[in-house]
Amino acid sequence: MDNATRLQYLQAMGIDVWVSRNEAPVEDIQPVATMDYQIEQQVEITGAILDDWSVLQQEVAKCQRCDLHKTRTQTVFGVGDLSADWMFIGEAPGHNEDQEGKPFVGQAGTLLTEMIRAIGLHRDEVYITNVLKCRPPDNRDPRIEEISSCKNYLQQQIEWVQPKIILTVGRIAAQTILETKEPLSKLRGTVHQLENIPLVVVYHPAYLLRSLPEKRKAWQDLQLAIKVYQEKK
Ligand code: URA
Repeated sequence: MDNATRLQYLQAMGIDVWVSRNEAPVEDIQPVATMDYQIEQQVEITGAILDDWSVLQQEVAKCQRCDLHKTRTQTVFGVGDLSADWMFIGEAPGHNEDQEGKPFVGQAGTLLTEMIRAIGLHRDEVYITNVLKCRPPDNRDPRIEEISSCKNYLQQQIEWVQPKIILTVGRIAAQTILETKEPLSKLRGTVHQLENIPLVVVYHPAYLLRSLPEKRKAWQDLQLAIKVYQEKK
């Protein structure tokens, strides 16, 4: 997709052109992956690897390690390219995700898809998952025992995808993964590391939908992620 079309999408989402006078205009930012690039880079997924993934997904589907299994409709494992360079990690499924079994569907999911488009990628070209695989009732914050019950699943997903960059989506995902209580305002804008993988913290799209002035900062976070990725490649 060319930048003009991408901008149209962003504007359709109510996102104005996120360009500060001191920054490169959106047009100057090279999309990090074109279709051709993706095809060239596509890693052949062998049957054995797919088997491992489906075993893990089945294990998650029947998981009863914490009480969330009592209230979930279904588990929400993760979607996308199993060998993606970019991995997005959110907090936990909400109502729509619990119903559909996929992460980031609904309004916030649509905005996340547009944020992914803004970095030059399609949703299918990245891997998206959450810290928790089950919805906490009434969308309350995840509890410590729930996070630790789910931790190994996420660790395994990261190990198998081997992304070149991780983006945590929202405060809870960032604080949980980085094991800190620092506010998002302190965590964003710098590059963290998770087992030698660069990690950039971005705002949660649900928050951006409520707080339009933060969109500029959200675009800055995405620009930082693009820069880090391009340097790492
Ligand atoms: N919020 C999240 O953090 N994850 C989802 O999958 C949906 C909303």
